[in-house]
Amino acid sequence: MDKRIINNIDLLTSALASLSAENKWLDSKWFYDPAGSVLFEDITKLPEYYPTRTEVKILTKNIDQLQAYIPDGAALVELGSGSSTKTRILLDRFHNLNAYLPLDISEEFLKQSANELAFDYPDLIVDPVVADFMVPFKFPENHVNSSKIAFFPGSTIGNLESDKAIQLLASIHEWNQVSAFIIGIDLIKDIDTLISAYDDAAGVTAAFNLNILHRMNREIGANFDLEKYKHEARWNVEQSRIEMHLVSLVAQIVNIGATKICFEAGESIHTENSHKYSQQSFAKIAAQSGWNISKFITDEDDFFAVAVLQPK
Ligand code: AVJ
Repeated sequence: MDKRIINNIDLLTSALASLSAENKWLDSKWFYDPAGSVLFEDITKLPEYYPTRTEVKILTKNIDQLQAYIPDGAALVELGSGSSTKTRILLDRFHNLNAYLPLDISEEFLKQSANELAFDYPDLIVDPVVADFMVPFKFPENHVNSSKIAFFPGSTIGNLESDKAIQLLASIHEWNQVSAFIIGIDLIKDIDTLISAYDDAAGVTAAFNLNILHRMNREIGANFDLEKYKHEARWNVEQSRIEMHLVSLVAQIVNIGATKICFEAGESIHTENSHKYSQQSFAKIAAQSGWNISKFITDEDDFFAVAVLQPK
């Protein structure tokens, strides 16, 4: 008999609720287990996945312009602390920073990358904060009154629907002494480029998407057959977003512990949204959350933008 263990009660609760909905879905935050994080790193190096390399290029090319927004003694606060490549571009140039505060929900990952940065930037105070930036949190005592620069690269804002995106931008606007906000935004472009970025020829994005089923098998006693689902990337024109789906190839019943989840052939699990913006549509949500756009820097193809926001 196979032994199925449940070792992630949060994933279990979340998955049972979202897979029992009329339209099945899964929260995209569950992509990032150790295997998923490695697959995401692989995605960022794919020829089809333009966002990472384009953003790195914009940051590198315009770093002197960005320096003008960094007050002496400021703390750089990064939302999510993924790969430190982008952070290092800023830290290498902004010598007047006093501190770097990465925020992340994954304590282990956070502490590891914080240690590496602290070693490489000995003059900088590195204070990792374990927090979900979607939920109100407190800054460490010694940073409450320091001036702050928020940094949210990667177009991760695109995962959020507009009410949630506005809510997040507004909550950063509420931080004590926040003087600027540097944010990466993926822009609307031709559909083929968008679809290929989320459905690459090597199948890395498919593996990344399917890994969420594998994770449920490992962590919450599910029995998804990965052969019976296929990865799909769809452009939703009304919502201006790429959607990732896992489409059931056959009618099937899956067990998650004692719960049975029924799939019709062709039925999908919606696993991620990646909203794309124009300068106008982004300016609208920025304005609604209290920010002015001081700079909107794009690459030569207008594929991606790095915006500098300041409180209105
Ligand atoms: C990390 C949310 C910015 O939406 O482009 C990449 C995640 N999903 N390929 C994105 C992702 C599939 C990525 N973000």
